[in-house]
Amino acid sequence: MQDDDKRAAADAAVGEIGAGMLIGLGTGSTARFAIDAVGRLVRDGLSIRAVATSDASERQAKALGIEMLDFARVERVDLTIDGADEIDDRCRAIKGAGGAMLREKTVAAASRRMIVIADGSKQVVRLGGVPVPVEILPFACASILKALGGEPVLRLSGGQPYRTDNGNWIADVRYDLDDPAAIARRLDTIPGVLGHGLFLDEVDAAYIACRGVVTRLERSAPSG
Ligand code: 5RP
Repeated sequence: MQDDDKRAAADAAVGEIGAGMLIGLGTGSTARFAIDAVGRLVRDGLSIRAVATSDASERQAKALGIEMLDFARVERVDLTIDGADEIDDRCRAIKGAGGAMLREKTVAAASRRMIVIADGSKQVVRLGGVPVPVEILPFACASILKALGGEPVLRLSGGQPYRTDNGNWIADVRYDLDDPAAIARRLDTIPGVLGHGLFLDEVDAAYIACRGVVTRLERSAPSG
């Protein structure tokens, strides 16, 4: 059921892809459905190119015959489609349970439009039900964990620190997100913090599927 909704959201979002576009491919189980759908479009003859936000997504896309570019050589992406762990009605999101938020944010920042796809369980009234993943420089782990505040937990895999595709570690931090922008500003100033999962300005729209019904949420234009 949840997978059906992930697939429905992904299929709806992929409808925004047009011929000739350069697409940003997200990471995670929902993004996988979107990559599958992009693969079908390519198989049916649509000409697009893509960049991936993780090694896993890159492998999946290549296996489906999608032409992949090295993001290091790409200035602008037309449209990025990615999952999220939480999203509110202002299109502010927490990402990074899959550990790819640093690459995801750099690709989102280079994108003319960034769309989140999610099943209804990810939609929240208030951000903060899940920890904020923070990518940290292993060299400075202890001092960064202290500086993070909140309740930081070093992410482990097989008893060892989890390593991102960039070779760094992740702290998952529970914060009171009354003022998420203040937390993001604080994280942005800690030396050795390389990225974090608070996506407060990057997401332009979200396709959210609940029991087969897909709703599109657009970030409202800034007032004034
Ligand atoms: C990876 C992410 C994922 O997009 C996010 O964790 C959602 O994953 P899923 O679709 O598997 O629930 O941010 O870094």
